[in-house]
Amino acid sequence: MAQQSDQFKKVISHAKEYGFVFPSSEIYDGLSAVYDYAQNGVALKKNIREYWWKSMVQLNENIVGIDSAIFMHPTIWKASGHVDAFNDPLIDNKVSKKRYRADVLVEDYVAKIEAKVEKEVSKAAKRFGDSFDEAQFKSTNPRVVGYQEKAVAILKRLGQSLEKEDLVDVKALIEELEISCPESGSRDWTEVKQFNLMFGTKLGASADSAMDLYLRPETAQGIFVNFLNVQKTGRMKLPFGIAQTGKAFRNEIVARQFIFRMREFEQMEMQFFVKPGTQKEWYEHWKETRLKWHKSLGMGDENYRFHDHDKLAHYADAASDIEFNFPFGFKELEGIHSRTDFDLKAHEEFSGKKLQYFDHEDNTSYTPYVVETSIGLDRMFLAVFSNSLVEEELDNNTTRTVLKLPAVLAPTKAAVFPLLKKDGLPEVARQIIEDLKWDFNVFYDEKDAVGKRYRRQDAAGTPFCITVDHETLDNNTVTIRHRDTMEQQRVNISELKAIINKEVDAKNWLTTM
Ligand code: GAP
Repeated sequence: MAQQSDQFKKVISHAKEYGFVFPSSEIYDGLSAVYDYAQNGVALKKNIREYWWKSMVQLNENIVGIDSAIFMHPTIWKASGHVDAFNDPLIDNKVSKKRYRADVLVEDYVAKIEAKVEKEVSKAAKRFGDSFDEAQFKSTNPRVVGYQEKAVAILKRLGQSLEKEDLVDVKALIEELEISCPESGSRDWTEVKQFNLMFGTKLGASADSAMDLYLRPETAQGIFVNFLNVQKTGRMKLPFGIAQTGKAFRNEIVARQFIFRMREFEQMEMQFFVKPGTQKEWYEHWKETRLKWHKSLGMGDENYRFHDHDKLAHYADAASDIEFNFPFGFKELEGIHSRTDFDLKAHEEFSGKKLQYFDHEDNTSYTPYVVETSIGLDRMFLAVFSNSLVEEELDNNTTRTVLKLPAVLAPTKAAVFPLLKKDGLPEVARQIIEDLKWDFNVFYDEKDAVGKRYRRQDAAGTPFCITVDHETLDNNTVTIRHRDTMEQQRVNISELKAIINKEVDAKNWLTTM
């Protein structure tokens, strides 16, 4: 655990030091849970967004994109259920005066039980060696079985209490489990209360006529209210999808863990409209497709798992999270939700406008069902960034810090160095930059010894470094060094584009899916 949090601290400081993520308003001491993306961060974020867009929109002829406004008519949030039900159950500790999400306190308690299970498993794996059967051990070892049963029972009770809005029982659960405030150690808690997460604002100049608005807490509703516009103008036939990326805002009370939980963040969502009755099969399809997308980035299949929900949101008939192994453990990265016809029906009712699909094959009109995939771009950024940051021991007893970003996502694809700042080498390096910059983000660097320049690019995640030396002047060849293997190859300048392209081309990554 201590090791994990050290790794997480390294992630945060590396993100700042190498120009990926800065705390917002830093010269004014920052703004809690709000962050700015810096010069490298913005490029990594853009590349993640494009990788998603390509796989969802460009490669699927039945999915189109939109970009709806952040401001929306306030009744939309009444219809969607956010005004009444987009709440977190909060509890205050009377001694520390700190506010917590009651469900998170219980989930953290369960995570500790799960950590005990993992500890028992790794102890047993060492004891039994190659003959160890993890599944059998987990289902037969009495202590482990006991831990697992306890964890399941706690989560089940939490889920049921939240479902029934029985906040008295949520508090009782916290007391029975003897959960204390992480800060003060006190078990003196207030009642659990619901707190709405939407940010309010006003539209209009005068106080009398101003209209109360909300900053959208999800991008999905912009898709639902445009469903018929897109269907009609695009002459879309079911099943079809509408995708969008954009900012969402939530007044998260327990905003922590860097860019994992922010108050202003970006979502990449896709609503897939299907014929009623087929939603289960599309739900399974999108679960599988989205997991494949994640795995295509090569960040370790063992770092993903599904978490199927027992406690369903007000709109869903099935829901699952793709969880990723962040430096602080497995947590939600993406949600796949079978949202039924809840949203379209609600918007029909509140707007008084029909939002139905006319099925020419059946000659009937009906409200489509929806399967949604929803991923936080910032959370994906954190998954990629934290997974890529490694300290490597080298043969000469030194270490190097290297950001092994999937090359398709790397902010800079190649750095070009003249070995020396003279003899015409900078001019050749500049010419290479001129040629490559039309296709790739490239970077010129002539400062410090080449070894130091390599290290700087390793730490920024640049997959290739190209060095121009005196031999270049004779035969037009350069060295190209690979970030991960540190191997160098001598190649002709005319080959550079193809070598880089082979490694960074999204097609090569997405076709491994
Ligand atoms: N339209 C469905 C929806 O918004 P959600 O599970 O509340 O579902 C979807 O959010 C995704 O958005 C999450 O899986 C997560 O990646 C991201 N997300 C949610 N809240 C976030 C926050 N406060 N900060 C960063 N990302 C967040």
